[in-house]
Order: sequence, then C-alpha cells, then structure tokens
Amino acid sequence: MTILVTGGAGFIGGNFVLDWLAGSDETVVNLDKLTYAGNLQTLASLHGDARHVFVQGDIGDRALLAALLAQHQPRAVINFAAESHVDRSIHGPGDFIQTNIVGTFNLLEAVRGYWTDLPAAGKAAFRLLHVSTDEVYGTLAADDAPFSETHRYEPNSPYSASKAASDHLVRAWHHTYGLPVLTTNCSNNYGPYHFPEKLIPLVILNALAGKPLPIYGDGQQVRDWLYVKDHCAAIRRVLDAGRLDETYNVGGWNEKTNLEVVNTICALLDELRPRADGQTYATQITYVTDRPGHDRRYAIDARKLERELGWKPAETFESGIRKTVQWYLDNHDWIKGVTSGSYRDWLNQQYGA
Ligand code: NAD
Ligand code: DAU
Repeated sequence: MTILVTGGAGFIGGNFVLDWLAGSDETVVNLDKLTYAGNLQTLASLHGDARHVFVQGDIGDRALLAALLAQHQPRAVINFAAESHVDRSIHGPGDFIQTNIVGTFNLLEAVRGYWTDLPAAGKAAFRLLHVSTDEVYGTLAADDAPFSETHRYEPNSPYSASKAASDHLVRAWHHTYGLPVLTTNCSNNYGPYHFPEKLIPLVILNALAGKPLPIYGDGQQVRDWLYVKDHCAAIRRVLDAGRLDETYNVGGWNEKTNLEVVNTICALLDELRPRADGQTYATQITYVTDRPGHDRRYAIDARKLERELGWKPAETFESGIRKTVQWYLDNHDWIKGVTSGSYRDWLNQQYGA
C-alpha cells in the first residue's frame, strides 16, 4: 500500500512522513515544490530508504499529479502543501492564492480523475485528507467559547482567507462529485524542524544569537499550542477512522499569550544554556509594530475528535516546549541549513536590519 503526501518537506508534513515511516512500512510518495519552507535536510534520515519516494513538484501541476497517481496507485492523499506564514501573506498574497486556492483546485481535479477510474473496492477505501487551520474561523474575544467545527468561517488574513477557500473547494468536491474527503482544522503547531520565521523557533534562535525577541503589539494575543507529533497522530487517526466529509478540529488545550510563550522559552534557555553575563534572556524582549489585522485569540474545542475517534494530545505545553528548546540546542546543522541567504532577507524585510 502507498500514500501520497504533499508538502512533506515542510514542518508538519516532514514530521508526518518521519513518524509515518517510523511506525509503518507503507510507502510514502512525497510531492513537494521545495519553496523556501521545504527542506530535504528534515528527511535526511530517510536517505536510501525505498519506502520514501521524493518528487519535487507543484500541487498545481495536474499532469504531474495524474502521472504520480497512476504510477503509485495510493490509497490516500494527504494535503499539507501550502504557503503557511501569515506575515508573508500580508507582504505578498499572490503565492497564497496560487498554491492554497488554485493549487488545491488542481490537486482536487487530478485526484478526482484518478479516483473516478478506480475499481469499486479501491474507490470505496480511498481518502483525500486536507490539512487546514483554525485561522479560518477568525478571531475570538477573551470570553468567547473555543472554535467548534460548526463555527462560521470568518478569515481575516490573506493566508486564512486562502485556506478557507481551499476548505470550501474540498467540501464542494465531496458534495458535487462524491470525492471521499476529510478535513482537519488545527491550532498552532510547534516542535522539531519548525522554520524560524514562526514565533517559537524565531525566539529560540534570536535569543541564542543575542538578538531582540520581537513581540507584536502588546503581546497579549492568545494562541492554542499543539506539539507537532500530536497533530501527526491526530491526522493518522482521522485518516484511519474519520467519517467521510466530516471536519475535525485539532487542538492542544494550551491557550497562552504570546508573552507567556516567549517568557517560558527564556526561562528554559536560562536553565539549559545560561547567558554568559548571567542575565535572563527575557531582557532581549522588544515590542515592535503589530501585525496588520492581527487576530486576538484562537482557541480550539477538540472534543469531537476525542469523543468520536479517541484522540487526545500526549504532550502538555510544558513538556512539549522543553523538548522543542532542547531540539534547537542539539541540531546546529539543520539550523545552519535554514538560516542562510533568503532567510536573512526575510528577517530584514519583516523586522528591519
Ligand atoms: P510549511 O510552510 O512549513 O511547509 C509547507 C510545505 O509545502 C513546504 O515544504 C513547501 O515547499 C511545500 N509547498 C508550498 N507550496 C507548494 C506547492 N505549490 N506544491 C507543492 N508543495 C508546496 O507549512 P506547515 O507549517 O508545515 O503547514 C502544513 C500545512 O498545515 C499547511 O496547509 C498549513 O496551512 C497547515 N497548518 C499549519 C499549522 C502550523 O501551526 N504550522 C497549523 C494548522 C494548519
Ligand atoms: O493557528 C494556526 C496557524 O498558526 C497556522 O495556520 C499557520 O500556518 C501558522 O503559521 C500559525 O499562525 P500564527 O500567525 O498564529 O503563527 P506565528 O508563529 O506567525 O505567530 C504566533 C503569534 O506570535 C501571533 O500572534 C503573532 C505573534 N508574533 C509572531 C512573530 C513571527 C510575534 O509577536 N512576533 C513575531 O516575530
């Protein structure tokens, strides 16, 4: 048996492929465009492993997808491929429209063509799992109930609007054509192999480099944090047993303000890699201009996934963030590989030289 994963050289997709092959001998065909966020170093441990077939390519390339599907006959497709960073979507929304909307459309059409021609048993067993985000639901006030699966879509950034559009396309391809789909909407992930444009890895690396730790606005925005390996386990569970055309919210029950997250990282670094001058890393915290349209709070009600499929996160924020900080302290080569030219250009554009 074979599965096809898109975006499997990125943060979550990479963790998913590694975890999948650690627990199964089922081949993974991994289609990734290798944008700035895709990194084959994440998959270095799979070098020479015949169970991992890497193909560089775009989910928007329908002919390539059709050929891969015909050749490998996967029983499932899991779509991680996306432009994923909100700040980049504010600077340049075009790539988000192209990959997240047009790319998903082309993926759906290629998969529909393949699925339509499958024999009855293969057709019934086939699944397309689309990985999405809690940001499609918009923002919450401090005392609002967490997002459930029936919360209305109110995306606020070019990124979240493009993901919302992709969710709607996936839904429509089920209702119109009968394509067997599943969608997951997850909160903020963190853990190994996280590209350091996102808050947690950025703060760890800036702290160690003696640079400012940029807090947007007042730092009181709230996110729900989920350790990436818990997200991967949830996806495996939904793929195994999720009900067709259902959406499942995935979250960690770990609501934190950004300031709390950054202070926790500083305290861990103070313990694990104290500054030479004996000062706390928290002295590097710097308040910077807020993100335009910054969503104030996300919170996920993940009870449906627990009730129907028995999934619960294994990590607390405290255990997961300790593992994460330690991982960044231990993995210099991976970090060196991702903090070169184009990454520095992004930092200069976003935060100023
Ligand atoms: P990422 O940016 O780290 O990785 C995205 C991957 O997709 C990269 O390897 C990139 O090369 C690849 N890619 C981009 N455009 C492509 C294209 N046109 N064709 C093929 N490959 C392409 O993203 P991530 O954080 O790993 O997120 C993965 C998915 O999970 C995304 O769909 C994202 O919206 C969703 N998600 C992310 C989070 C989070 O906290 N990171 C939370 C919820 C949902
Ligand atoms: O909620 C799920 C989403 O989580 C995913 O869909 C996105 O792909 C993923 O990038 C993430 O989006 P966020 O915008 O929440 O993540 P980010 O790490 O960019 O920012 C987290 C919070 O920290 C957010 O409130 C903005 C703030 N922030 C971020 C950066 C990069 C700062 O205060 N300073 C920073 O330098």
